[in-house]
Amino acid sequence: MHSPDDSRITLPLAGENSTLALAGRLAAQLRPGMVIYLHGDLGAGKTCLVRGILHALGYSGRVKSPTYTLLEPYHAAGLNLRHFDLYRLQNEDEWEAAGFRDEFDGSNIFFIEWPEKAQSVIPPADVMIDLQILPAGRIAVLTGRTQLGKTCLQQL
Ligand SMILES: Nc1ncnc2c1ncn2[C@@H]1O[C@H](COP(=O)(O)OP(=O)(O)OP(=O)(O)O)[C@@H](O)[C@H]1O
Ligand SMILES: [Mg+2]
Repeated sequence: MHSPDDSRITLPLAGENSTLALAGRLAAQLRPGMVIYLHGDLGAGKTCLVRGILHALGYSGRVKSPTYTLLEPYHAAGLNLRHFDLYRLQNEDEWEAAGFRDEFDGSNIFFIEWPEKAQSVIPPADVMIDLQILPAGRIAVLTGRTQLGKTCLQQL
């Protein structure tokens, strides 16, 4: 469902297959340098969505949660992708110390789980995705925060 300015979309995701279908649509709209925040409780489906995007791009390897490494890098379909999970980030200094700032080079595409852990040091989001857990399934709310992000959602 599109909001009047087309910068927010709310989608019911009845099951994992719906999450993977959304992943496929998002994969087709990724552009170099795009930053996507993934909000939602533990088990909401953030990693599942990123895994689906990578597989939709043709990546055939294992996509594991970057819970302990904080970052997993990928190359697929000519794109460089960086999957972060900041849940275990101790503090924002750790982002700088790990050299993550250098990963933001205008080309790498960022997916950031738990962005609220490092809000003041991470790059701003083009698209925010909020996954809400329902008794059965999930609801995804996608918000475009920049022109790039809004265009991405309009073409979803
Ligand atoms: N639409 C959906 N409805 C019901 N279950 C779903 C849906 N999409 C994904 N799932 C399931 O929800 C779980 C999501 O786990 P996932 O690791 O992706 O969560 P996460 O948001 O990354 O959690 P964490 O914050 O711990 O990293 C998986 O078991 C997946 O099968
Ligand atoms: Mg996860």
